[in-house]
Amino acid sequence: MTTELSPIDKAKFVAAKKAVEFVEDGMRVGLGTGSTAAWMVRCLGERVREEGLKIRGVPTSTRTASLAKEMGVEVVSLDAAKWLDVTIDGADEFDAELNLIKGGGGALLQEKIVATASDQMIVITDASKEVDTLGAFPLPVEVIPFGWQTTQALIEETLVSLDVLGRSASLRMNGESPYVTDEGNHILDLHLKRIGDARQTAMILNQMPGVVENGLFIDICDTVVIGYGDGKAQVR
Ligand code: 5RP
Repeated sequence: MTTELSPIDKAKFVAAKKAVEFVEDGMRVGLGTGSTAAWMVRCLGERVREEGLKIRGVPTSTRTASLAKEMGVEVVSLDAAKWLDVTIDGADEFDAELNLIKGGGGALLQEKIVATASDQMIVITDASKEVDTLGAFPLPVEVIPFGWQTTQALIEETLVSLDVLGRSASLRMNGESPYVTDEGNHILDLHLKRIGDARQTAMILNQMPGVVENGLFIDICDTVVIGYGDGKAQVR
């Protein structure tokens, strides 16, 4: 599976392979979204097919649901699973406290619901996602389509009072049209550059009408598995 992979794909694969070692027979597993999470779903599928591992997977997007089914992983809804043993997902940034920015792939809402309903969340990543302070990666905020421009203006106005460096928000596009999430919402990417107080930023954003959820994952992640291009993995 690792032949002819670029160093970055190898790093993602290695992190995913290591993380699926945490999965045991009978577990209910949250399946993240994104290119790193896709490696995890493939690795889980391999264990299902080769070892007869029995798990139930709760996908965090339609993309992940399709891949999981293709890989032979049983897919159930979150409500059917009720609670999960572990969620394995990628991230766009993580800091020393294992707080995250997620949502680069547009699935932050289901990802946060699923991770929060899990005994533990394991993030799989390459080393480039580690930062001293969150915020260089634009912070995704899921907003309802109704009045999204008014919500954008309200967010930009509120950012002035927050400990952030950048203050602009842009609507995520899919070609000529606004990007639409699995829940039928839009995403505003906030260009904050540096988020001095991530907890406060997350709280204030979620208080605004029109905001469904933001991509700051505070105190949700328990473990980070970092993969490297040389085939090594580090668990933190
Ligand atoms: C999707 C996410 C992804 O986990 C995040 O964007 C990382 O993706 P990738 O593994 O492709 O770099 O949050 O909403």
